[in-house]
Amino acid sequence: MHLRRGLRGIVGNTDGRSTGRPVMHIYCKRNAPRSKGRIETLSSITDMQRRARQIRGSGGSIVLVPTMGYLHEGHLSLIKQGKPLADHLVVSIFVNPAQFGPNEDLSTYPRDPERDARLAEETGADIIFAPDAAELYPDGFETYVIQTNLPEHLCGLSRPNHFRGVTTIVAKLFNIVKPDFAIFGEKDFQQLAVIRKMRRDLNFDIEIIGAPTVREKDGLAMSSRNTFLSEEHRKSGLALYRCLEEARRRVAEGETNARDIIADSSDVIKAEKDTAIDYIKICDPETLIDIDAIDRPAVMALAVKVGNTRLIDNRMLLPPGGKAR
Ligand code: PAJ
Repeated sequence: MHLRRGLRGIVGNTDGRSTGRPVMHIYCKRNAPRSKGRIETLSSITDMQRRARQIRGSGGSIVLVPTMGYLHEGHLSLIKQGKPLADHLVVSIFVNPAQFGPNEDLSTYPRDPERDARLAEETGADIIFAPDAAELYPDGFETYVIQTNLPEHLCGLSRPNHFRGVTTIVAKLFNIVKPDFAIFGEKDFQQLAVIRKMRRDLNFDIEIIGAPTVREKDGLAMSSRNTFLSEEHRKSGLALYRCLEEARRRVAEGETNARDIIADSSDVIKAEKDTAIDYIKICDPETLIDIDAIDRPAVMALAVKVGNTRLIDNRMLLPPGGKAR
């Protein structure tokens, strides 16, 4: 009886009416043991908003992990880091068309919703929010969040509307999921900087948390797009990590000349099969403006196409005596 009341309290509509949309799986945090198929999956915006209002109205808190799905250990590390922060963890899964350029990989972006649901649940997520593109971007959609400065650097130069798409979808997710915390990976360093700035500029009452990059054993940064790499291209992709590690070592030993490090890294990447450098930069971690003399903490960031797959990676460079990220 107690359990039934608990379930009604959690998934029932506050106004007692049916939404007409299925709440596919029910998970009652306090009363039910975690087991397969119990994660709550919501796909409609109004259902998610209603659920978020309900959680917050009863004094609960929410942490959001936004993703485009095809989950890997990097995504799962964000769930693990977020889990202790709030009593409900929402993973959003949405391949956001607004952040893909016309010649990018939107149609081939890897997807596996069933596997994602299983992994998210096993890792501790309570709710999956997996909306439809048609509901998020209905005909006539015309309101975007545009940041003017940070997107003019690094990835923004070769992906002109990418960050407009990211800020717009993340702002929409914030309004729909109403989180207290949101977690983003440092792997997408510029994205994290852009979102932190958006939070400040638009006064979102949400704490943004950065999570360290998770790598394969050999150092390749985990990415949903790694699935496109042949064995040979994967080997070429490892050069990004090698360059970052070599730069870290040189700077820790006192090298300050950014130009020299970039030139040497460029040689290393070019020596690998089927690589095309988009950029190799050493810049200020907040403004993303290039740094010539590495006499303070800087971020080194690379974007390289290996075959048809665009890989990005970054790491902090700390001059002797600098603090670790
Ligand atoms: P996606 O590429 O699916 O990444 C979702 C989140 O996982 C991002 O915060 C990203 O930085 C983080 N992430 C990816 N690879 C990681 C790794 N190897 N280690 C740690 N974290 C990693 O980034 C996006 O989706 C989208 O732009 C999104 C923010 C969801 C907006 O559409």
